[in-house]
Amino acid sequence: MVSTLRFFHAIVHLILFLVLPQCHASHRHSKKPGSWKQAHATFYEGDTETYGGACGYKDVVQLGYGLDTVAVSNVLFEEGKGCGGCYEIQCINSQQWCKPGQPSIFVTVTDNCPPSYQSDGWCNPPRQHFDLAKPAYLKIAEYKAGIVPVQYRRVPCNKQGGIKFTINGHQYWNEVSVWNVAGSGDVKSVQVKGDGKLRWTPLTRSWGHRWTTGANLTGQALTFRVQGSDGRFSTSWRVTPKNWQFGQTFQGKNFRK
Ligand SMILES: *[C@@H]1O[C@H](CO)[C@@H](O)[C@H](O)[C@H]1NC(C)=O
Repeated sequence: MVSTLRFFHAIVHLILFLVLPQCHASHRHSKKPGSWKQAHATFYEGDTETYGGACGYKDVVQLGYGLDTVAVSNVLFEEGKGCGGCYEIQCINSQQWCKPGQPSIFVTVTDNCPPSYQSDGWCNPPRQHFDLAKPAYLKIAEYKAGIVPVQYRRVPCNKQGGIKFTINGHQYWNEVSVWNVAGSGDVKSVQVKGDGKLRWTPLTRSWGHRWTTGANLTGQALTFRVQGSDGRFSTSWRVTPKNWQFGQTFQGKNFRK
């Protein structure tokens, strides 16, 4: 009798463990768009277009983000926590400078627009500002305007395929890039577990989408658990073989929309 009770107890716990994280998630900007807010947008061009500067992405085009990318001011960047988040942006209130029909662009945060130490810089706190890659900007506004009023809202990120994990570093220091994240797109926490000695271990955000740990990951098939800013978890079981090598990229499971 006692063992039957224990058994049921264990089953109930297992079910709660599997179901609760999904139920308790607030779904903040993961399944439905947020509300519209007003801001301004500018653009940048040149070599920096493909370079995911402050989020630590190397080449955003190669990583599949295309040039639908944006550098955001500090209040949206949140010291890297905002990296990977997605926005819908429309140019508004300027017949002269907005493209007709108020088209939307959908962009991913890949960089920071840092404050300038002039008193009224567009990226200075508390301003919410979008410095767009030029091709994205040109879909909504005229080049000559330079800066336009916009409305924006958080939207779920649409990505092809699974979450990608690129492992760099060496035996004593591992750096895992976590990218191509759907759903909220921005990552709140990352944990890793091995099929050997390594128990669930939290990683620390070092730089935008890059997470580090000093735990020994070598020689084990690794499982990663990623938590989005909406609270949901996605667990990618045994995405690496035991003999994975530094520099390799592995594809896991993505968030459902
Ligand atoms: C890490 O683990 C592997 C496999 O278990 C082992 O061969 C290696 O010596 C360990 N490295 C360190 C630095 O402990």
